[in-house]
Order: sequence, then C-alpha cells, then structure tokens
Amino acid sequence: MLTPRTIRVFANPRHGVPGVVVLPTAGFRRAKAEIMAWEGYAPTPLRDLPTWAEAAGVELIRMKDEATRFGLGSFKALGGAYAVANLLGEALARSGVARSVTSADLAAGRYRTTTEGMTVTCATDGNHGRSVAWGAKRFHCRCVIFVHETVNQPRVDAIAAYGADVRRVPGTYDDAVRAAAVQAEKEGWLVASDTSWPGYTEVPRDIMQGYRIMADEAADQWAGPPPTHVFVQGGVGGAAAAVSVHLRLRFNPVPKLIVVEPDRAACLLASAENDGLAAIGGDLDTIMAGLACGEPSLLAWEELGRSAAAFMAIPDESAAETVHILADQGIVAGESGVAGLAGCMLAATDPSARHVLGLSPESRALVFNTEGATGI
Ligand SMILES: Cc1ncc(COP(=O)(O)O)c(C=O)c1O
Repeated sequence: MLTPRTIRVFANPRHGVPGVVVLPTAGFRRAKAEIMAWEGYAPTPLRDLPTWAEAAGVELIRMKDEATRFGLGSFKALGGAYAVANLLGEALARSGVARSVTSADLAAGRYRTTTEGMTVTCATDGNHGRSVAWGAKRFHCRCVIFVHETVNQPRVDAIAAYGADVRRVPGTYDDAVRAAAVQAEKEGWLVASDTSWPGYTEVPRDIMQGYRIMADEAADQWAGPPPTHVFVQGGVGGAAAAVSVHLRLRFNPVPKLIVVEPDRAACLLASAENDGLAAIGGDLDTIMAGLACGEPSLLAWEELGRSAAAFMAIPDESAAETVHILADQGIVAGESGVAGLAGCMLAATDPSARHVLGLSPESRALVFNTEGATGI
C-alpha cells in the first residue's frame, strides 16, 4: 500500500526503567473535568482501518481521528486553550482579584475587565498557536503568537482569525520559542508554551494533561483485547508523552509505544541514541510542519526516555502518500497528523523493523491522526 522507503528504527535500551511521575493523575482529572465542560466538547471518532491492517499484516489498525476537535482541526485544541484558562486564573489569584477561577467563569466574562489587560503568548508551527488564540478569545484576554519564517500563510491566517497578533521571526520553531519567552519577560506577558525547559514546566504539564483526553477517549472507545502497539508522532514529544502516561493508566498489558518523527527533525530519536536529551540543528525542513522541532520538551523526554519501546524516523514522501491514500478513503488528515500511521505501515512491512518491534499477524495497532487539513 505504501511505497517501501528507508526508515530508522531505534529500540530504546532504557525502555521500562522506572522514573519520576511526570503527569500526576489528579492533574488529568482536573483537565478532563474542565475541558469536557467547554461548549462544543464531543469525543472524536476512533476509526477502524481494515485495508491498512491487511496491507500491514496485522490483526487491526485503529485511528483516533482528531481532525474535528473543537472545530480547530487538531488535538492541540485540548492543550493550549486549557493553559490559557489556567494562566489567567493564576494571574487573577496573584493580583488578588479572585482566589479560584474556572474556565466557565472566564468564558462567561466574569473577570474580563481584568483579563482584557492581560496578554498570553507562545511560539507555534500552527496548531498550538491556534489553540492558544482560540482560548484567548474564549477567555477574554490579548494574544501574541510567534511563528518562524516557514510557517505557511493559511496557518497564520487561521490564528489571526481569533484576533491574535501574529509575529514572524527568523529561524526555526525553536528560535520562535526563545523569541516568545524573551518578549514575554520584557512585557510581562503570560507564556503558554507547549514545550518545557529547566525552570518552565507547569504550563506545559497542564497542556499535556489536556492531551491525555484523546488517549482517554480512545481507551473508552476501544473494543476487544487491548492494543499491542501504539504509534504516535513526536514534535517536542508532549503529545507522545501524554499518550504514554495514559496507556499505563488504561491498558493492561501496556502496549508498546513507538514514537515517530520526520527524518529531518528526529530530536527524540537523537536523544534516545544519545542516552540523554539532545538538540539537533539544521533547518528542520519537513512537510510534517507540526513535527519540525529540534529540541525535545524536558518533561516529555523524562517520560519518553524510559517509556517508549522504540523511536523511528520516516521520510516526508511517506507522510504525503499516507495523506493521499486516506483522502481517497474519505478521511481528511494533515502531514503531521498521519506520521504515526505512516510509521506503523513502514515498520510492519519492513522485515527488520517488524522483527525489532515485535509486529505479527496478531498485533493490534492504535494510531492518532492529530490534525485535519493543513492548507498546503
Ligand atoms: C498535528 C500535530 N501532531 C503532532 C504534534 C506533536 O506534538 P508535540 O510537539 O507535543 O510532540 C504537533 C505539534 O505541533 C502537531 O501540530
């Protein structure tokens, strides 16, 4: 079905080594209660992909399809907007305006005279910034979003449509992350970053707690024996780490997690090979725009470095091909969104990768389509 191509697969020697709890369950329960109460919340579908499973020589492949999440086109709707609500709530508490604030209070505009003077900011390659801008509009504050030079105009327009001020900066996504942090420090803005670094972990932790909802729904929707393999794409690793934590909570035995990245931006794979968090350089030029990250999130790495069974890197051509085949089947997906499915197919049909990952006709794979149409 997919043209065979060169892939890199690295079995994680630290798989299963115990470590710190990155996402405590209480934080997930809070995120779930808040986000499920938002207007427009509805679980996204879990789709059976029988023709893909047959071509892969496995029992089944099911795809959690995030294209319709809150009408925003990606799973990121679960994270950025939730961080905005939390940041505003904390700022209101710090300034003595209100001790405990829910996102429903904010959405109703109860504190808008104060929040309208606050600004949230972040860097994005498209989807996260859209979620933050949507949250800023919904919860009544200002928003400045930083994008790097190659983020395409439809993505910028989609963010600006929520009233955000979108600023382009030279370099890559990682440069935009630094630009947002520097400007926020200068202006006193609230940083809603989806990636974490030493000293900045609480907001990205909330964001990852929100992402867990997609895995939670998938577990609720899963019928029959649990998945044996889960393929999930990695940018900075936040989504994959959130899924990883949730697999342990919801499935027994715990499926093998395989993190899939573009071969031109495989910073998680590089970290695994390095046996420690590693940044990669270069222009990170890939059509999987949401995955074009050179520096893993610290929190995500703390989880994935010991929970991922393997890391793999795939070429752009396979993502493009997967998008087209799904489109022919009536499923709209973006290039970053299909990386997990593409990785699953490539690994299952490559004898060496199939062996390393323990894929067989009895395997049951779960993948996540993390975005809908991207406008490119
Ligand atoms: C569609 C899509 N999928 C996956 C990811 C990866 O998420 P993370 O950066 O948390 O690994 C992103 C990140 O922007 C994305 O936009």
